Order: sequence, then structure tokens, then C-alpha cells
Amino acid sequence: MDGRIGVFDSGFGGLTVLRSLLERLPHHDYLYLGDSARTPYGTRGFDVVHEFTREAVEALFEAGCPLVVVACNTASSRALRTLQQKHLPRFRPDRRVLGVVRPSVEALAGLPPGALPGVTPPSHAEGLVAILGTQGTIASDSYRIELAHLAPRLRLVQQACPLWVPLVEAGETEGAGPEWFLHRYLDPLFAPDVEHPSRILLACTHYPVMAEGIRGIVPTGIDLLSQGPIVAERLDDWLGRHPEMDRRLSRGGSREFWTTDDAGRFSELGGRLLGRPFEARKVHLAPWSPP
Ligand code: DGL
Repeated sequence: MDGRIGVFDSGFGGLTVLRSLLERLPHHDYLYLGDSARTPYGTRGFDVVHEFTREAVEALFEAGCPLVVVACNTASSRALRTLQQKHLPRFRPDRRVLGVVRPSVEALAGLPPGALPGVTPPSHAEGLVAILGTQGTIASDSYRIELAHLAPRLRLVQQACPLWVPLVEAGETEGAGPEWFLHRYLDPLFAPDVEHPSRILLACTHYPVMAEGIRGIVPTGIDLLSQGPIVAERLDDWLGRHPEMDRRLSRGGSREFWTTDDAGRFSELGGRLLGRPFEARKVHLAPWSPP
């Protein structure tokens, strides 16, 4: 079916973003792809994440999606720029790929959607923000690089939380075990001898699933930001500013779910993240080669 919005993640996590997209833009048609067979991406090298992301995005293009939202911070941090600047102009000039880092950075900076470095005056946002992400996202420094342009006075503390994604993918998010892993990465941010952040960005789409546990540990008064509502609001605005793409998107209200791993398990766990049941289909992602 042509005209769907493709949503891609390394596994289940992007369903937390899709959930917000369905709330904000319910009439569009969506095709979600979770590469669960190869998750986590967060501990993989740059080239591998790039290759996997390109395969997934190409599969969504082939399925008729003119627009793909890479709802994965690791893939957005490590592969998006090359896809946008090299792959699309050469092989897919009529398609668009959007990520989750830019909208999140705009929101942290308190800037309107579509802010551009060098064009939009930098924001006056100040204070200390904690960015929680995978090893890949934190190692890429993508949040610091983008924020340096848009909100130079905002200071960051970045914390990789590599063991949270496997817990979410395993459906193990409650109880003493997961709580130990929450403390492991959150406690250093709130040690008595360090400056505490006033806001925390869950810069991994899997982490909102742990939000309740995180809230239980983080001192009160600290804002916990999830990306779903931020991405949905800014995609809505982006479509308003890109009518040439908006016109190509179909509005039949359909949703289809693909996974590269077991479809039954993906449907069962994924349904909890999305907040509604669905039946996923298993697909195989082929290595991409130039036409
Ligand atoms: N959900 C992804 C993200 O937002 C990454 C999870 C993974 O490590 O695969 O970064």
C-alpha cells in the first residue's frame, strides 16, 4: 500500500513513539518495523548500525512508504545523517527520513519546530539536562553536538544505560532485578557531591517502558521527558511545512507491524507497549545493494 508512514526501531521501543503518533495523527496509515532479531543496536559499531538501518529503511521504502521515521536514537545518531545526505539524494530523491534526535533537541532547547543552526537564534535555555541513552547514542555525542548549536548555554550530563534495553526486550521491567539496574545508572546522577539535573530526557525509545521505576528513584520536581509526544508534535508540524510530502500520505487509518523475529512474541510484548493488540508479521531484511 502506498503512502504509509514507515516507523522503524531496533525492536519494540519505537512502539512508544508510534503510540504517540497514533494519538496525534490517527488518520494516517502506518507500517512499523522492529528489527528484534538484531536488537540491541546500542552496543554495536557505527558501520553495523548504519547497514542495518539502511536495510530497514529500504524495506519500508519498497513497501511504499514515502516517509520513514527512524524512531530509534541509536540509529538516528549513527546512521541518519549519512542516509539523508548521501543515500537519499543518490538513490531515493523522492523519499524522506526523519529521526528523533533533532526534535528532542529542539524541545530541550525550548525552540519551535524546524529550528536551524545559524538561522534560528540560539535559545537561552540554561541549566543541567541529563541524557539517558544507549552506549551507541552516548558515544556518538549527537545530543551534545546538536545542542551546542541550538542551546549553547544548556549543559549536559550523559549517561549510557546499556542493560535497560535487554530488560525491556525480555519483558522484565518490574521487581528487584530491574530496580537494581535502574539504580546502577540513575544513582550517579543524584550523588550528593554532584550537580543534579533539572530535566531528564529518555533518549532511548525503550526507556519509557521503565518510566514508572525511574520516577520512583528520581527525586521529585525533576522533569522526565519521553520522546513520543515530542516527536509526534514535531512531525505534525513538519508535515504542515512540507505539503508536498503530506499530500502523498494516505489516510485510511491502517496499521501493519513487521518484525524480524518471532511474530507471536513481538505481538504479545509489543501490544503492551502500544497499548492495543496487534498481529505482527515476520519479515526478512535483505542486505541492500545499489540498483
Ligand atoms: N530503542 C533504541 C534507541 O532509541 C535502541 C535500542 C537498542 O539498543 O537496540 O536508541
